[in-house]
Amino acid sequence: MSAEANIGVVGLAVMGSNLARNLASREGNTVAVFNRSRSKTDELVAAHPEAEFVPAFSYEEFAASLTVPRTAIIMVKAGKPTDAVIESLMAVFESGDIIIDGGNALFTDTIRRENAVSDAGFNFVGMGVSGGEEGALLGPSLMPGGPDAAWVTLGPILKGIAAVAEGEPCVTHVGHDGAGHFVKMVHNGIEYADMQLIAEAYDLIRRGTGKSPAEIADIFAEWNRGELESYLIEITAEVLRQVDATTGKPLVDVIVDEAGAKGTGAWTVQTALDLGVPVSGIAEATFARSLSSHREQRDVSGSLPGPSPEAFTVADADAFIEQVRLALYASKIVAYSQGFDEIRAGAAQYGWNIDLGAVSKIWRGGCIIRAQFLNRIADAYDADAELPVLLTAPYFVEALGRAQDAWREVVRISAASGIPAPAFSSSLAYYDGLRADRLPAALIQGQRDFFGAHTYRRTDKPGTFHTLWSADRTEIEAEDTH
Ligand SMILES: NC(=O)c1ccc[n+]([C@@H]2O[C@H](COP(=O)([O-])OP(=O)(O)OC[C@H]3O[C@@H](n4cnc5c(N)ncnc54)[C@H](OP(=O)(O)O)[C@@H]3O)[C@@H](O)[C@H]2O)c1
Repeated sequence: MSAEANIGVVGLAVMGSNLARNLASREGNTVAVFNRSRSKTDELVAAHPEAEFVPAFSYEEFAASLTVPRTAIIMVKAGKPTDAVIESLMAVFESGDIIIDGGNALFTDTIRRENAVSDAGFNFVGMGVSGGEEGALLGPSLMPGGPDAAWVTLGPILKGIAAVAEGEPCVTHVGHDGAGHFVKMVHNGIEYADMQLIAEAYDLIRRGTGKSPAEIADIFAEWNRGELESYLIEITAEVLRQVDATTGKPLVDVIVDEAGAKGTGAWTVQTALDLGVPVSGIAEATFARSLSSHREQRDVSGSLPGPSPEAFTVADADAFIEQVRLALYASKIVAYSQGFDEIRAGAAQYGWNIDLGAVSKIWRGGCIIRAQFLNRIADAYDADAELPVLLTAPYFVEALGRAQDAWREVVRISAASGIPAPAFSSSLAYYDGLRADRLPAALIQGQRDFFGAHTYRRTDKPGTFHTLWSADRTEIEAEDTH
């Protein structure tokens, strides 16, 4: 077999085969393909002769078909399969070759893998890929990490296959080692929050105004023409409009109301907890999926007391719908702001130099959270790359100022009527927490000092103090035991 392919793909399930087709469709690429079980390779090559794939049926053949430096993208089930494929590639590749993991790996696994792979003389790139199967085929948003040396070879290839937003390819070298997978993880966390917020908006409108899913589809389609314009709003309208062929009912009424999850939302929250970053919107969205899936608990809880049905009467449906729209927009700003906080904290913790403005730009196309307002985020970081809180950028201050009364009203109505809106309400609480001049954290510090001598600082003088709670309650200077 002669070395004729400049790029290879290992793993030809839906993501890998679509990415391989995308690569093959771009000028200058010849794509080698390999899958553990031969049938997927045969099917792909037979179905797409136009791609002129170079099929390989062993790792040795795969390596032999690639020009140097060999560059291979792994698109297999995340976890142990990824490790197995990396090991197999290392056995047949040579020093300087590039191994890219495009699966949904946990960033700490990517850091571990990069250490092991680079110690053996290879380049390893953990790359976040977003956009699902359609994105993989037509243009995903790509979030590669890894070493600078790999980016030299990889950059032009990835720029060729990525989605294009406003003339710019949706790919950037996010940072070293696990940075790409970290950013992809937070992307997915934001996606959870965005989806939950949209679902809460739908629920409030449906139960508040009695509108049908098809009517609410029209509302979302209308919203998609304004500042909420995004892929998720667009597909929400499509889903709500869909009628079940079997029953004639709206499909959304036939689907079991238990949301699944593949774990990236939980990773985002777990990592945020470790970093001490409050991503309350993402956390509420993740927990809301968990709650929905505990059918056994929901079954025994339906009789718990709630407000009387009269507690929720909407006098002016149009006005309420506009309030929900504003609440959605404000909560969405909070979710993104929290997500970008997590990226900044991760970058500081792991030593990555991540350009937050560039991240917001590569999310404008190809990925699931693509949205018009990512341009505003890019503007905010262009104006101040060190912006401590995204919410405080002038554009968002104006938007939140416009939305906040409606936001409060929607949260009030949700509480009074017993319609759960955990992401709306936690986002508002976060916003008010940030705004507060004084927080009750002072009381918590007092409590901690009382039971655990954890000490506190004073507002009026420097130093660390402890009150002798179990003695005469005088205050002494103490060593900080935070
Ligand atoms: N689906 C999405 O929307 C999406 C979006 C972004 C990222 N991703 C990520 O992209 C990757 C691929 O996703 P997918 O949905 O296309 O496929 P998948 O169902 O996650 O994985 C199936 C592929 O993994 C291969 N595989 C499993 N165990 C293996 C092993 N031990 N050694 C070698 N190959 C092994 C399978 O080969 P066989 O055919 O031999 O079983 C098959 O090619 C995953 O990491 C996923 O998380 C998916």
